[in-house]
Amino acid sequence: MRNPIIVALDVPTAEAALKLVEQLAPVSGGFKVGSELFTSAGPDVVKKIRAAGALVFLDLKFHDIPNTVAKAVAAAVQLDVQMLTVHTSGGSEMLKAAEQAAQENAWKLGRPPPLVLGVTVLTSLDSGALREVGSDVNVEFQVRRLAMVATKAGLRGLVCSPLEISALRKSLPASAQLVTPGIRTGEEKADDQKRTLTPKEAVAAGANWLVIGRPIHAAENPRVAAEKILESLN
Ligand code: C5P
Repeated sequence: MRNPIIVALDVPTAEAALKLVEQLAPVSGGFKVGSELFTSAGPDVVKKIRAAGALVFLDLKFHDIPNTVAKAVAAAVQLDVQMLTVHTSGGSEMLKAAEQAAQENAWKLGRPPPLVLGVTVLTSLDSGALREVGSDVNVEFQVRRLAMVATKAGLRGLVCSPLEISALRKSLPASAQLVTPGIRTGEEKADDQKRTLTPKEAVAAGANWLVIGRPIHAAENPRVAAEKILESLN
């Protein structure tokens, strides 16, 4: 089985990120570069992680007009990332443009297309927050609705919270790749993640990839923490 652990490099500098990559590349399946690291360190840090032989998940959650998103996805393909995110609330046309840009640009470069992952409802939003922006539905309904929009538009994967995995597995094609943050082992200090599953529970529920940040990078020994999580999956 491939290693499903994607370590979230939620650190502010390239130096800190590359140190983690060096320590953790042998025991992780890839690394997530998000808005903080990308804004401070730029595409160069992605190139360096790729040069170290690791897979990159570029989590910039594109959300714009279809043409602009397609160009951003094309740029991500040039950077040779293996996964990237778009907001499904950008609508079908935007999602189709993103998937098409991933396929076409990868084909031109002779590489596999990156997985374009749809983000449904941010876990920081509840029904009250959705209502405030004009969406009078409950969160679960909106997640399922956006997941269907994404699937119909041709997306091959979604980011979802641990507690959404089982329900989504029932309604999505079996080939859909589910990428799940909110993973906790039970050993770390409490933080802002409220609805969590352990790595083993998330995989059993149907997650293909686990995005894990603080339980690894904030551990006293990140390498040991990652090894323990990997062992817990066997
Ligand atoms: O440190 P922690 O394991 O909570 O990190 C999880 C990562 O997943 C962070 O990069 C966070 O931004 C991201 N994420 C999340 N919840 C979501 C979507 C993304 O925690 N719903």
